[in-house]
This record gives sequence, C-alpha cells and structure tokens, in this order.
Amino acid sequence: MKELIVNIEKNGKLIKAGTIRGNDYSDAVFCYDNEYLENDNTPISISLPLQNEPFSVKQTYNFFEGLLPEGFSRKTVANYFKTNEEDYISILEQLGQECLGAIYIGNTSNDSAIDGTYEPLSDELLKNLAAEGATTLTKILAETHLSLTGATGKVGVYYDEEGDKWYLSKGTAPSTHIVKQSHVRYKSIVINELICLQTAKLLGINVPDSFIINTGNGKDEDILFATKRYDRILSDIKIDGLSVPYRLHQEDFAQALGIDAASKYETTKKGYIAKMFALISNVSSKPIEDTGELWRRIVFNYLIGNTDSHIKNYSLVYNNELNKIKLAPAYDIVCTTAYNTSNDMSMYVGSKLKINEIDKSCFDEAALEAGIGKNIATKEYEKMLAGFENALSEATDLVKSLGYKEADNIKEQILKTGGFQYIS
Ligand SMILES: Nc1ncnc2c1ncn2[C@@H]1O[C@H](COP(=O)(O)OP(=O)(O)OP(=O)(O)O)[C@@H](O)[C@H]1O
Ligand SMILES: [Mg+2]
Repeated sequence: MKELIVNIEKNGKLIKAGTIRGNDYSDAVFCYDNEYLENDNTPISISLPLQNEPFSVKQTYNFFEGLLPEGFSRKTVANYFKTNEEDYISILEQLGQECLGAIYIGNTSNDSAIDGTYEPLSDELLKNLAAEGATTLTKILAETHLSLTGATGKVGVYYDEEGDKWYLSKGTAPSTHIVKQSHVRYKSIVINELICLQTAKLLGINVPDSFIINTGNGKDEDILFATKRYDRILSDIKIDGLSVPYRLHQEDFAQALGIDAASKYETTKKGYIAKMFALISNVSSKPIEDTGELWRRIVFNYLIGNTDSHIKNYSLVYNNELNKIKLAPAYDIVCTTAYNTSNDMSMYVGSKLKINEIDKSCFDEAALEAGIGKNIATKEYEKMLAGFENALSEATDLVKSLGYKEADNIKEQILKTGGFQYIS
C-alpha cells in the first residue's frame, strides 16, 4: 500500500490537506484529513469539495494525474524512474515537490514551504536544454522534483531579474519561471508563441511577462521560451540573498471541472465553452471582469489560429489566503494552424469545430449557450476583430526588433492560416 501526503501552501506555510492511498494508480483514492476539515480550510480543487469520505478513483485520478507532464515528456520521466507512464502515483511521488500551483506532495520536516536552496544554472546547461530534447530536461526535472503539465519539454527555474542569473530550485525552494523548449517538428515555435502573447496583450488580454532566452545565435536550437509564473509572488524571505516566492494555488479548468487530461479536447460536442463560463460565474471573485476576459480569449484563439486552446490551457489562480479565485492570465497561445496540424479547434464554438467553418453566427450561438449577453459578446468580438491586424503588426515588429527575423514569416502564416482570414 502506497501513501502520498498531499500538502497545500497558504501564505508561505504548508498545511497537510490529506493523503492518497492505494496499491497503485488503479485503486488510489484521496481523502482529506480530519484536521484539515475541522479547520475550515479551502478545498484543494473545486472538483474535490470538503468531505469526510474518500473520493472515487476517478475523481482522484482526474485532479492528481492532471498535475503531471503529458505525452513524450511523461514518457521520458517514467523511463527515468523505471515506471509505467500510466502509473501517475509513482511519478507524482518522485516529482510532486514543485507542481503548478501550491500543491506539495510528500512528507515535510516542518511547515515551512520555503526550505531549500537555489543552485546556479550554468550557461552550458541552459544551452544544452535549448539544444536537445529529453536528456537534460529529464535530469533537471528529476533533480528538482518538479512536475509541470503539458506536452512540451519544460522546466521550472528561478530567475534573479536583477542579476540576470538562472538557478535550479532544490529542496522545497519554489521556482519563479517556466522555461519551454523549441520543438523540432514546429519551426520557430518559440518566436510564434511570443508574437501571439504580445498580440494578445496589445488587445487587452492579461498575459504573463514572457521573453526569449537566446543561448547562441537565435536559431531554434539556441532559444527557449521563458514565462514568469503568475502562481508565484516574491516574499520578503531570502535564501542566499535571493527573494523567495510564495506559491499561489492554481488549477486548470479540466481539474476544476473534474475532466481527465485525456479528454482535454472536445472532440464531440459536450459544451466545454458553456461549462467554462458557468464555472467562472460560480467561483470567480470578479465574475463580470473574468467573463469578458474569457470571451476575448476564445475569440482571440480563433483569430490567431490557435487550435490547441484546450481546456487545460485555461486556469484559475487563487490568492495567498486561498479565499479568492480569479481567471489566471492567458498562456500557451501559439498559431498552430501555421503547422498544418488539425483544422479542428479544441472546443466547439456553437455547433462547429472546424476553424474554416466557424463564423460570426457560431460565436452568437456560443455566447447564447454560455449565458453571455448578445450585445456585450458582439461588442467584444468586433473590438478584437477591428484591432487584430494592427496588434499583430506591432507585436511582430517588437519581436523582430529583438533580432528574430522569422517574425515576419510567422505573421504572414497567422494571416494566411488563422481564423482571421475567414471573417475579416
Ligand atoms: N506563466 C505561467 N505561470 C504559471 N503557470 C503557467 C504559466 N504558463 C503556463 N503555466 C502552466 O503550465 C502548464 C503548461 O504550460 P503550457 O500550456 O504553456 O505548456 P505546453 O506543454 O505547451 O502545453 P500543451 O500540452 O497544451 O501544448 C499550463 O497548463 C499552465 O497551467
Ligand atoms: Mg498547454
């Protein structure tokens, strides 16, 4: 029988929330501790409300498996730990000490969430991380006990902005940035992501500060995409002169809605968009603001040709006290249509899934299903449409001014392949 202790950080302190028990992933169940329940704490997920009874295998799986890397990244860490990639319990046991949000898996010697050290990350290691796929990545993940979701190779690292230096976080020391690798099959994906995020920002969408790390000559094999974690805020506490962040809790919409990671794409109509808006209006501390913001993102992902805007690419973030929830900033926005992947969006917009079949009437349908007023939905939609081309040009120029000439080509691809072409 395995037992995994599940802690959550609140204001820099780890609180034991409960335990996952089971022989393996096929029968493991999570149950809150009595003490956690008695002290009127916050549920660790909207999908795991406070209750005395253990949750089902499925509920446990949907939330905790949803904390792990996916696809090829999962395979490589599973190999490293000599376990089966489906065995999420064993992987979480190894990697759950620095997750997304404020969950910490494992026994802790005290209640401080910020024990540990920062070890300088050499230029050479950063270069290796940019240059090749799995080996350096897996080594870093294993050494830092870090689990980040998604399919792209990525690590969580500490960045000292003042000193412009990178560090690996050891022990329970939290990271400040997520750093993603390029992809051999998707040319210029790092540049693509930065252009998309900058365009979104110019259209008023809330995005995290993100930038490109160039470890060489700016080619795909030299560059990494870095994004500042919105689920970390710097505290007054220091380790070796470096300010240590507190962890803010976050969960993605799949976890919050109890949807397993394998169902992150809406391949048959299940009403994901309507479910997302219902969730926001139930849990957000700023439901009107967040409803507008979520709607703008749905329109934007279509315009820019991001067919990978699945339900794990939207998240909720909690405050330090764990008593307020907001829509997290937008992340993972890439013009995927540029790579000739699939024509299917990740969610139905009204009755249509194929990007080339979606038009304004589909957005009207989606707004109706989601309970958004038609006037507001149309006004926001038209604002996004009217500002799109200028914002894209401005974002492209900015990225080009950083020395990435490929930016022009990406812009051309966005206009040629994204949703904008169909409705402009
Ligand atoms: N700036 C950020 N701050 C905090 N968390 C973030 C940030 N950016 C991304 N994340 C979290 O990390 C997860 C993985 O990041 P991201 O979606 O960019 O990776 P990916 O591997 O490209 O994903 P996918 O499998 O969807 O292609 C996200 O689902 C999100 O929860
Ligand atoms: Mg993602």
